Amino acid sequence: MCGIIGILSNTLVAERLIDGLSRLEYRGYDSAGVATIYENTITKRRAEGKLQSLKDLLQQKPLPGTVGIGHTRWATHGSPTHQNAHPHATDRVAVVHNGIIENYQLLKDGLIKDGVIFKSETDTEVVVHLIDQALQAGKSPDIAVKETLSKLHGAFALAIIFKEHSDMLMGARRGSPLVLGICDDELFLGSDAWALAPWTQKICYLEEGDVVVMKRDNGFAYTIFNEAWQPINRLVKHLNLATGAASKGGYSHFMLKEIFEQSQTLSDTFLSLIDEETHTSRINLPIDFSGEHVRIRLIACGSSYYASLTAKYWFEKYAQVLCEVDLASEFRYRDPVLSKHDICVFVSQSGETSDTLAALNLAKSKGCITLAIVNVPESSMTRAADHHILTLAGPEIGVASTKAFSAQLAVLCALALHAAAQRKSMDTISTHLRELLHVPKLVAQVLQDVSLFDELGLRLSQTRDVLFIGRGTNYPIALEGALKLKEISYIHAEAYAAGELKHGPIALVDKLTPLIAIAPNDGWFEKTSSNIQEVATRGAPIIVLTDDPMFTVNCLEFRKILLPKSTPLSACFIYTAAVQCIAYYTALHKGTDVDQPRNLAKSVTVE
Ligand code: F6R
Repeated sequence: MCGIIGILSNTLVAERLIDGLSRLEYRGYDSAGVATIYENTITKRRAEGKLQSLKDLLQQKPLPGTVGIGHTRWATHGSPTHQNAHPHATDRVAVVHNGIIENYQLLKDGLIKDGVIFKSETDTEVVVHLIDQALQAGKSPDIAVKETLSKLHGAFALAIIFKEHSDMLMGARRGSPLVLGICDDELFLGSDAWALAPWTQKICYLEEGDVVVMKRDNGFAYTIFNEAWQPINRLVKHLNLATGAASKGGYSHFMLKEIFEQSQTLSDTFLSLIDEETHTSRINLPIDFSGEHVRIRLIACGSSYYASLTAKYWFEKYAQVLCEVDLASEFRYRDPVLSKHDICVFVSQSGETSDTLAALNLAKSKGCITLAIVNVPESSMTRAADHHILTLAGPEIGVASTKAFSAQLAVLCALALHAAAQRKSMDTISTHLRELLHVPKLVAQVLQDVSLFDELGLRLSQTRDVLFIGRGTNYPIALEGALKLKEISYIHAEAYAAGELKHGPIALVDKLTPLIAIAPNDGWFEKTSSNIQEVATRGAPIIVLTDDPMFTVNCLEFRKILLPKSTPLSACFIYTAAVQCIAYYTALHKGTDVDQPRNLAKSVTVE
């Protein structure tokens, strides 16, 4: 979602603001803008669409100035137009904002009564006018911001510059991420540390309610105020982030590169969790899974939720512990019954998803044990949870999650087996752990020849609706396959547990609606085969992903993709890679924006 950047320097900042924004592009956006102060005037440049339009504009109309703010906007209030693009400004103050001001309408009504004329439909503009009013009343910038913040409800991160104080940059964090970057001769704000990596790796993660006032006087100095407006010292970390621009490494899209990286990323993740020699768990958490009253609660959104649904099968089967899975957006508002015996596991690629973070804070406030499984090391969730495990998938740039999803499966599976060891609920743990170490090779085999996925993608690119089915751990993988397909190809896709088909969804079946069945030759194979047959009989094109070379269906259109021989444990990894490829090649043939699909954001920092 929206990306924020701010620079206070002695040298021109516009070009670097754009550079910083390009490092935030992966978050998803639909317009962008920058503002600087030059010759005692705030000047903005804003453009709809991709960052290139803003770059072109700056070529035509350069923007001098040594203090500035920049923004990539993912529209919430007001369509993605030039007028609604950030920064928003009056003559005195300019603001960029990530998040939602929930009480903006009330504030806007009050401002309109005071004679303020709004130029955009955004919630952000109320922040600008509130600060402006306070400045007009003679308040200093920091007091104007303090008073304004006290009137705002919702979650946000802000970066602010002031016409009369071109030696000053302010940032505020409540609910949305914001980091401070520190150099001897420059200071920075960014939505994440990666955006600032080329200029500084000295990073301070602002905490909830923090405001930072950055000044250029004789040197560069900053003060952080906490929620109670007390000056406070926050830890400064020295990171070691890659500084180069993310590269596609010869692949046509980041998503394809990330699909192909999975064999390696899975290996990295498994080796961090499993001892290669002894086939024992290397998970070292001060959490006791063995208690009689222990309950596992997995809480997440989107693909991370589907990884969690898969893990429910493992926790219950291997660790024989009650496991519930929740969508974070529901969990946080439905008064869940929680106890101190609950081990609440929050699964998130970004570690910033607003609903999951709120659910985590709720579980913490109820005294539950909290564990975050996260891909971004210095994210809000790794810092908020009692414990965390990193998924080690490396930066994921494609908006649709692929390698982060499979890495979540890897951690969750190893965690379920770790819990099983503590609970002494099975005696073949080391066999299973050894089996997991073979998974990366199986995934590599899936990706060895993708020509069948390519052909299938061409066929599917001409359809309007697709049905997916699967059983057991492959049911959540079917859900993930359908989500991936709709996200990047915009084709309507639904997934069902195979056994559920005849309880309603079979009414959708016709010759224009292909069925994609995930059907490894496992304990449920015969049952899934019958379900496939039922759909075939009704004329639907049938696509079967299986490891059974003999499987066939008598129907008008039948395609089979033969995948490596799987076990109940390895299947979900193999079939995940397959459904990712199907989605990718379908989108490729449709010609959609695979890496940045419409309306989607990588890091969902608003509700
Ligand atoms: C789908 C996808 C999303 C995310 C969801 C949660 O491809 O990427 O559904 O899984 O927005 O995001 P995280 O995992 O960052 O909490």
